[in-house]
Amino acid sequence: MHHFHYVNGELYCEDVPVALIAEKAGTPFYLYSHATLSHHYRIFDAAFAGFPHLVCFAVKANSNLAILRTLIALGAGVDIVSGGELYRSLQAGVDPMKVVYSGVGKNEAEIRQALRAGILMFNIESSQELAEISRLAGRLRTTARIALRINPDIDPQTHPYISTGLKKNKFGIDIERALQDYRRARELPHLDVVGAACHIGSQITELRPFLEAVGRLKSLIRELAKEGIAIRFLDLGGGLGITYDRETPPHPQEYGQALVKELQGLDVTLILEPGRVLVGNAGILVTRVHYTKDTEAKHFIIVDAGMNDLARPSLYGSYHALHPVVERPRPEVEASLVGPICESGDFLAKDRLMPAFTPGELVAVMSAGAYGFSMSSNYNSRPRVAEILVKDTEFYVIRKRETYRHLIQGEAIPDFLKEAP
Ligand code: LLP
Repeated sequence: MHHFHYVNGELYCEDVPVALIAEKAGTPFYLYSHATLSHHYRIFDAAFAGFPHLVCFAVKANSNLAILRTLIALGAGVDIVSGGELYRSLQAGVDPMKVVYSGVGKNEAEIRQALRAGILMFNIESSQELAEISRLAGRLRTTARIALRINPDIDPQTHPYISTGLKKNKFGIDIERALQDYRRARELPHLDVVGAACHIGSQITELRPFLEAVGRLKSLIRELAKEGIAIRFLDLGGGLGITYDRETPPHPQEYGQALVKELQGLDVTLILEPGRVLVGNAGILVTRVHYTKDTEAKHFIIVDAGMNDLARPSLYGSYHALHPVVERPRPEVEASLVGPICESGDFLAKDRLMPAFTPGELVAVMSAGAYGFSMSSNYNSRPRVAEILVKDTEFYVIRKRETYRHLIQGEAIPDFLKEAP
């Protein structure tokens, strides 16, 4: 469900015409619906009602302060993977006791920063990290609450770049050696062992892999209990997929019910780390057609957004639906919608049937709210685009379009290069 809809053939976000925003803000831009985002959060959270739980939004999916603030105001915590994400989340007003910190490469400064902030829990991904966090907590004369992130060796049947819970992936601690690492964690000073975590991948469209992971973690938690290690938080990560094209992922309610059923009798607080399912369909990328071009082999539609703005199609071959901002009768053509970047891999859609878009018109690239702006770059020295949030009849610029000044910020020409040639 989302609030991008047509009124008399014109695309609206909530009660604002998308074309009006384009006129005022220029293109390209990311556009988010506050109502959609809030609705998604409420539905997801309600799916776990009746079981103690905490929804920690995966900041990497969309880290804009206003997006974080929207979710935090509704009661969300956050799942972070860097000091930068912690900084943003604190700026957005998160309660540190609702922050979980995942990631295989946490550095010393980041660990200190999280310890000082007093976050809920570090999800530890290796035995070396365990020792490092114990050491740094000791230095700061504090105690770190920790979970071990378990790699349950489960195939989530998703794109290889975004599956994370297989033995061959770099993530987590092998489930076979988990017991050994938990024993070690218990012996190490300055650590409070409170949790078990896993995250098996992203854009998962079936329940089975999630349920398998729960099964494995449940057995582990029981074994730990026998040894006197009481797990209070079970973090099942994120990963629930959305509909980009024709996928039929479980509804969050179905997902919640199935997980809660599996967890009956377990005395834990459940933590979830959804990213995409909350924000993916709450955002679109709006771009304008520059030119069309026919070569002997193909029809190209050249727009002003490129792979630097939305990397997913180039990186994973991802599908994003394309809709005209103003509808009119027209044929469908087989075409590639490409950007201005100097790479053949720069496309938003490749060899697909799409409306015959014409120069000057606006195109909505749908389902771009997750891993869209957050993965964008300045490649080809392109300023990053604006981000805009709509609420009811108003729109708000929540990130200004970058200028050329941003592009060279922090760069310097050393004196020896300044002398005239
Ligand atoms: N928790 C952890 C530890 C994660 O690594 C991730 C995503 C999430 C939660 C959130 O997963 P979600 O609910 O969004 O599926 N750039 C890729 C997706 C990479 C996902 C990385 N980890 C894409 O654009 O599809």
